[in-house]
Amino acid sequence: MQNTPIQIGLAGFGTVGTGLAQILLHNTEWIGKRLGRGLHIKTVLVQDLNKTRSFIPAPDTRFVDSIDALVDDPDLDIVVELIGGLDKAYEIIAGSLNSGKSVVTANKALLAEKGPELFSLAARKHLGLYYEASVGGGIPIVQTLKESLAGNRIKSLMAILNGTSNYMLSEMSQKQIDYSQALTRAQEKGYAEADPTLDVEGWDAAHKLCVLIRLAYGRDYPLNMLPVQGINTVSVYDIGKAQQFGYVLKLIALVKEQSGSLQAGVFPALVNQDHMLSKVDGPFNAVVLEGNAVGPIMLYGQGAGGLPTGSAVLADIMALVNQNAAYNNTGFLENDLRTANILQPELTVSKHFLRITVQDRPGVLAVLARIMGDQNISIAQLNQTQEAAGQFVPIVLLTHAAQLQQIQSAIQEIDSLEFVQSPTVHYRIL
Ligand code: NAP
Ligand code: HSE
Repeated sequence: MQNTPIQIGLAGFGTVGTGLAQILLHNTEWIGKRLGRGLHIKTVLVQDLNKTRSFIPAPDTRFVDSIDALVDDPDLDIVVELIGGLDKAYEIIAGSLNSGKSVVTANKALLAEKGPELFSLAARKHLGLYYEASVGGGIPIVQTLKESLAGNRIKSLMAILNGTSNYMLSEMSQKQIDYSQALTRAQEKGYAEADPTLDVEGWDAAHKLCVLIRLAYGRDYPLNMLPVQGINTVSVYDIGKAQQFGYVLKLIALVKEQSGSLQAGVFPALVNQDHMLSKVDGPFNAVVLEGNAVGPIMLYGQGAGGLPTGSAVLADIMALVNQNAAYNNTGFLENDLRTANILQPELTVSKHFLRITVQDRPGVLAVLARIMGDQNISIAQLNQTQEAAGQFVPIVLLTHAAQLQQIQSAIQEIDSLEFVQSPTVHYRIL
């Protein structure tokens, strides 16, 4: 009995599913040493049974296209969901839990939308729902928050969580290519989601941030309350300007606790070139967090790709096999997580970068300075590129710390001025 292999039902045999199967094949002996038994992929659910597969998990693995073959198979010990998307993935996960099987998933989108409901179901059924691969690819951030830092209050967490956006910003900054070329390259390399708007509009990072907030604070931060902005409006020009002032532009996911309330969001921001996150390039992800006992910690690694993400999926499978106490899915005794106290995003305070495109004529700067002064915003640095008098020119302003709502009011007034050519570009500086 001790040596009976664990039977796995795998939903999805794309980048991550194939990566998982490759690791199982190459590390069979090592996994056996840790578990005392083998892991066998009995069934693989795919969409297209006619697709040519360059690799199969085991000679007797059965490929199917109906979820019943996973959900209703009493011989399966664990179901691994790696198809992505919402409805079908939900059917697989809920169906598997309802039929008594623990589940491993990498599906951050589904967890962000339906996590609390699925955690409640798993708790009612006394089953595991593990999701290390849903955030940060191969980086062990879920386990770190759930187990290693369990005794800490997390003061803040600042992270690069979307490999596609980070790769694109790195390419735009280092190779001077434009946004659409950078996106094409990211897609060719397999970093992007099936729907790449999830990456570039910030939603993929937002999904991951929701998962991390629950693990760090034991509260649900509803996705529809999270302020989310992606990199889809970022220009090479602004990246260059940020560099001139000593900053690197990054897509940041941030959460901070302030007097029992959470301030969180996903947005492109200027990060000082001395900050650790400014050095995170290409498809890599990183999480910098501060615990009240441990102090600052940084986790860094490959945020996407078959083998790194497969490594995280495999860790969850092995943890489930080794589990002999009650399953710990949320990291808290509460499995029905309450909604967090949320700090209004407009009240957050930081420095800001503004690019205002104005007609170069007398009095313009005085008007801008008056508006900033009226909003109690102090200007820290200013740069204007020389053009012929009367032409439109970009003025880049860096402010001292100011409340977001004051900046938004100033931008609204500035953008209504007749000498302003186009909407002001605005980033927070962290
Ligand atoms: P993928 O390469 O697009 O593969 C998806 C797999 O699921 C394919 O085998 C596909 O079947 C199957 N599939 C899709 N829709 C299906 C349906 N309705 N019914 C049955 N099978 C279906 O996806 P992936 O990149 O491996 O991503 C899988 C999950 O991991 C997603 O939740 C993703 O967000 C997450 N994730 C991915 C990465 C990464 O680096 N790629 C990293 C972290 C997390 P066919 O083979 O027949 O087309
Ligand atoms: N599309 C995701 C990214 C894959 O670019 O980070 C990993 O979750």
